Amino acid sequence: MKKKVMVIFGTRPEATKMGPIVQELRKHPDWFDTRVVVTGQHREQLDQALAAFDIRPDLDLQLMKESQTLAYITSAAVTGLDRYVAEEKPDLILVHGDTQTAVCGGLVAFFHHIPLGHVEAGLRSHKKYSPWPEEINRRLVDVLTDLLFAPTALSKEKLLREGYPAEQIYVTGQTAIDAALLTNRPDYVFRNERLRELTERPGRLVAMTAHRKENYGEPMKQMFRAIRRLADDHPDLTVVYPVHLSPAVQETAYSLLSGHDRIHLLEPIDYPDMINLLSRSHLILSDSGGLQEEATVFRKPLVLMRDTTERPEAVTAGAVYLAGTEEEAVYEAASSLLRDEERYSRMASAVNPFGDGQASERIVAIVAQALGLRQELPGEFRAE
Ligand code: UD1
Repeated sequence: MKKKVMVIFGTRPEATKMGPIVQELRKHPDWFDTRVVVTGQHREQLDQALAAFDIRPDLDLQLMKESQTLAYITSAAVTGLDRYVAEEKPDLILVHGDTQTAVCGGLVAFFHHIPLGHVEAGLRSHKKYSPWPEEINRRLVDVLTDLLFAPTALSKEKLLREGYPAEQIYVTGQTAIDAALLTNRPDYVFRNERLRELTERPGRLVAMTAHRKENYGEPMKQMFRAIRRLADDHPDLTVVYPVHLSPAVQETAYSLLSGHDRIHLLEPIDYPDMINLLSRSHLILSDSGGLQEEATVFRKPLVLMRDTTERPEAVTAGAVYLAGTEEEAVYEAASSLLRDEERYSRMASAVNPFGDGQASERIVAIVAQALGLRQELPGEFRAE
């Protein structure tokens, strides 16, 4: 008999990392009745990502408000999801990562005694407020979870150390790698016309992003000052920055980075444009979680503008440099990579510890096994 699997997400990165899983579930219509539910914690950014994976949600709670609080998103998502889950009674729910939507999806699964699968389980920074609120969110979700999909051996180890039973943990690889490999194309034509022109300019292309809540205010100002100095001191750079729609980010970015002839502030670009921008960049500066994985798959050095990372695999492999958020540290880290070819190529030749492009296939096979639709479990992901 077919099983009903409900996939719940709400923000752009969740959509791109769950997109390949939804596609994989839909390859087995004889096994699964797949339902996609979005909270709409994000709007424009989410819609772009849904379109990239050709996903039309079965339910969209449309929750986003300007400058929304964590309390608002949490209460509204729990209430909306609870109603739908009570009606639909899925056999299994899948959530992703560490967002408010993931916590709410997990809670509602628990309220209704429905088994929960957590994609991207076991990431930890071990700092309560960094990243905030994500570090606590992912721990909350893991507690509620039955099938823990750990992207790497290290995330599995962290779960084991916290006492989670080995039989519940599966090393699958990162679905972000599946998505990035599916999306990057040498003959890609950018949809955003400005981006098309900028990526064809001579010189070195630097892609940057910044949006973390714990960096709002002074840390973000320091990061942006460092980037402006970087562009001043390296005349061959073209810096491209698609600015997150959060009003807090928009205000700081436009006040500190506009008016420079080689720093280009763009509206958020869609996922395929982003991936193909990364693969064509020389260097990446970011405070994002997911970009650490995407940069590594394309072997692009990334200067991480945060104090901690829950993805130490890339730092250990040498592909990501953890710079912090202070102006001098960010400037020095990026500037030395632009000057020192040897250091640059050492970072660019680090191995990708995150995935082999098969994570979604493994996750769906494990879900099928858990629901009694197939007997055997797939082999685990092992890094190169
Ligand atoms: C959320 C996630 C974070 C993830 C990030 C990716 C939580 C707690 N955090 O943070 O883990 O890395 O998404 O972007 O869930 N906005 C728009 N349009 C959009 C999207 C956002 O206008 O399409 C604005 C809204 O004004 C919103 C603000 O951005 O109030 C912040 O969005 P929110 O979802 O609260 O947090 P993020 O910082 O995006």
